[in-house]
Amino acid sequence: MDRPRRVAILASGSGSNFEAIVRYAREHAWPVSFTLLTDRPRARVVRRANRLGVPTVILPSRRFPSREAYDRALFAELQALEPLDLVVLAGYMKILPPEIVRHFAKRMVNIHPSLLPRYPGLHAIERAFRAGEKKTGVTVHWVDEGVDTGPVIAQVEVPILPEDTLETLEARVHEAEHRIYPRVIGELLGLPTDG
Ligand code: GRF
Repeated sequence: MDRPRRVAILASGSGSNFEAIVRYAREHAWPVSFTLLTDRPRARVVRRANRLGVPTVILPSRRFPSREAYDRALFAELQALEPLDLVVLAGYMKILPPEIVRHFAKRMVNIHPSLLPRYPGLHAIERAFRAGEKKTGVTVHWVDEGVDTGPVIAQVEVPILPEDTLETLEARVHEAEHRIYPRVIGELLGLPTDG
C-alpha cells in the first residue's frame, strides 16, 4: 500500500485529464510520483504541469530528423523512468510504435471519448453527436498496437440530450473523463479511491 508508485503521463494538448489525475492523487495522498512527457512544448499541459510542480520531459517532435528518431528518444526517456508501474496516455496525439506498446503491455492505458468499439479515432464526440446517437460515453482501455482497440477496462455512458449542442455534450464527456480516469488508475495501482 505504501510502496511508492511511478507513473508516466503522455499528453499533447490541453491536459485536463492530466490535471484531474494529479489533483485526485494528491487529494487521496497517493504515494505516486508522476512525470509528464510531451511532444508539444507549447501545449497547455506543460503549463499545468509547471503549476502543479510535476516534472516534465519535453521532446519537441519537430526537432527530430525523423519520426523514428523521435520514437527512439521517447522510448529512451520512458526506459530511463523505469521501473514504471503505469504509463497513462491522456490526449497523446501520436500513435506509439510497436516496440513501446509491447514493452509496456498491460502497463499502458488510454482514455477515449466514446463507447468503444464505437467511434475510434479522431473527433469521436462530434461524430457521435452528428450521427444522432442517443448516448455516447468514455472508455478506458489497455493500449495495444491498434488505434483505440485494446481491451476495455472501464466505460461510462453519457446521454446525448435533445437540447445538447456539441459544446454542452463535449463538456459533459470531459467531466465524465475526469471522474473515471483517476479512479481507474487508482484501482490499477491498488490505491484508495472513493468509488
Ligand atoms: C480527451 O478527450 C481524451 O479522451 C482524448 O483526448 C482528449 C484529451 O483532453 N484521448 P485533455 O488534453 O486531457 O484535456
